Amino acid sequence: MNLHVKSLSATRAGRTILHPTDLTIGAGERIALVGPSGSGKSTLGHALIDRFGGRGGVVAHVPQSPDEALDPLRTLRFHWREAEQALGRPPDPARQSELLAALGLPDADLKTRPWGWSRGMQQRFVIALALIGAPKLLILDEPTSALDPVIAAATMDLVDRHLAATDMAILLITHDLGLAAKRAERIWVLEAGRIVEDVATAKLLSRPASSAAQALVAHRNWAVLPC
Ligand SMILES: Nc1ncnc2c1ncn2[C@@H]1O[C@H](COP(=O)(O)OP(=O)(O)OP(=O)(O)O)[C@@H](O)[C@H]1O
Ligand SMILES: [Mg+2]
Repeated sequence: MNLHVKSLSATRAGRTILHPTDLTIGAGERIALVGPSGSGKSTLGHALIDRFGGRGGVVAHVPQSPDEALDPLRTLRFHWREAEQALGRPPDPARQSELLAALGLPDADLKTRPWGWSRGMQQRFVIALALIGAPKLLILDEPTSALDPVIAAATMDLVDRHLAATDMAILLITHDLGLAAKRAERIWVLEAGRIVEDVATAKLLSRPASSAAQALVAHRNWAVLPC
């Protein structure tokens, strides 16, 4: 089922960060949201969460840093239970095992706290948490920027494999055009809080129309990144 969003906007400290925007996201569609730092990408992600509720039933969000999602003093089991409770779900060990295995964490010891875990493991755990409610849309905000390129690509492969069997859509927030090129079929280019381009990925790469897209495409090193 498509997700329609009318007039999404965001104001922070009296400033309009995201100008009113209508969005349509098809079931199972993979959209990359690209644009320069400060253009409002994360703000658009947060505005979607505000619109649909942050519990992860319709839209689930993996923040730019796992630190935003994980309390270092709480066990991973606590985080899992909290996420289930937010969705109004009873404990479901089978679903937990399935998701942790899907994200490459089959033997995770959930009695531990997140600081014992590598960044890559924390990131995958946070993605698994976001998948508990099988949302219609998964927002991944810079999912690979804190990871080394090999781990980052492996993480995205795990997400791709898990989602292939579902009709969950992805909004992949990134300023890495290589990641967008490989993982998304459609791209939104955000510039100063406005979507200035909404096109098929191949078209954006071959014929960028907006100045923001032209600037991104001009950085040819995007083509050699492994993600
Ligand atoms: N809580 C806030 N209070 C004031 N200004 C904010 C707030 N959150 C975001 N902004 C401003 O909104 C603008 C967009 O921020 P946002 O984090 O959405 O950008 P971004 O495109 O995600 O950047 P990056 O690529 O660096 O993550 C920036 O100018 C930022 O300073
Ligand atoms: Mg951001």
